[in-house]
Amino acid sequence: MRVGVFGATGAVGKELVQVLGDRGYPVTELRLFASTRSAGTRLPTPFGEKTVEVYDPASPPKLDLALLAVSGEWSKAHAKELVAAGAVVVDNSSAFRLEDDVPLVVPEVNAAAAGGARLIANPNCTTAILAVALAPLHREFGLKRVIVSTYQASSGAGAEGMQELEDGLREVLANGGQAKNAVFRHPLPMNLIPHIDSFQPNGYTREEMKVTWETRKIMGLPDLLISCTAVRVPTLRAHAEAVTIETERPVTPEAARAVLARAPGVKLADDTANAVYPMPLTASGQYDVEAGRIRSNPVFGECGLDFFVCGDQLLKGAALNAVQIAEALPLKMAA
Ligand SMILES: NC(=O)c1ccc[n+]([C@@H]2O[C@H](COP(=O)([O-])OP(=O)(O)OC[C@H]3O[C@@H](n4cnc5c(N)ncnc54)[C@H](OP(=O)(O)O)[C@@H]3O)[C@@H](O)[C@H]2O)c1
Repeated sequence: MRVGVFGATGAVGKELVQVLGDRGYPVTELRLFASTRSAGTRLPTPFGEKTVEVYDPASPPKLDLALLAVSGEWSKAHAKELVAAGAVVVDNSSAFRLEDDVPLVVPEVNAAAAGGARLIANPNCTTAILAVALAPLHREFGLKRVIVSTYQASSGAGAEGMQELEDGLREVLANGGQAKNAVFRHPLPMNLIPHIDSFQPNGYTREEMKVTWETRKIMGLPDLLISCTAVRVPTLRAHAEAVTIETERPVTPEAARAVLARAPGVKLADDTANAVYPMPLTASGQYDVEAGRIRSNPVFGECGLDFFVCGDQLLKGAALNAVQIAEALPLKMAA
């Protein structure tokens, strides 16, 4: 396969290159694209050293698979050009996620939705992590209501977000005072910020509404009642989520534990006696989403369950999910 990674120098792009190598994706040619800032940079990859190129819309490269990790605007401008030039495109941005004719795919949940599509959307990172745990619980117990509170790492805002947290922490620890902020709306060190993406007329942020809209589409449950509060926290990597569900049928912690223990893409981390539960430090760098702290929720009685999940949003929430989509496609090399 001739594969192009667009945004290859970014937080998601770097992981895409690594995941292609780690999973043994059949890459015969790898091309890396980024902005003019990185043009000409030589990057080591599992497929040998590569030079970063700048995409030229006047002559799109001949690719079988294009993995996009730039921005929504960039994808809107160029994804369809790449499709027209023969590539199947998997897009990490939010540009096409809610379009009716573009499948939004988490392979453990709705792999078949990708069908023969040539443009496929990768979900929002928080949503993908949530969906791998919600889908098996829905199949077994039926979902009625979902309430989620998130704890999202700085790398959710890309390489610059991670850098701002690292620089800010160093500055505050060395000199005291308050860290500078440019990527985040407020300083993130020693803080948390209940504001990710823009506020909507209904009082939710766009990040929170993405969890609602995209979970409904991925799970094929257009009327699912779901409310999210999304919070940026001063961790580097992996998003955590506290989840409360009300189910159609009675659910016990033991039954939920059994379902999640055999769910693809989920790793049970639920041994409170030994202080084992999902955490960013243990979920980072892992393909599976950790699920734990499973307990009955007394508000919803025998149909209520609380649990905690944590997943590496650069992997399951982005790069890994995109490569899994590519693996599930009946891709053929273009002429
Ligand atoms: N971070 C996450 O957790 C996450 C999760 C799911 C989805 N996503 C989505 O994935 C995409 C990438 O996010 P990220 O976090 O990886 O961002 P990032 O770290 O800021 O990386 C952005 C990448 O895009 C390149 N780029 C920027 N402007 C460009 C332009 N005008 N033309 C060509 N390339 C350009 C950058 O190249 P230079 O290095 O040369 O500037 C860099 O390689 C976004 O759509 C984001 O919403 C992110």
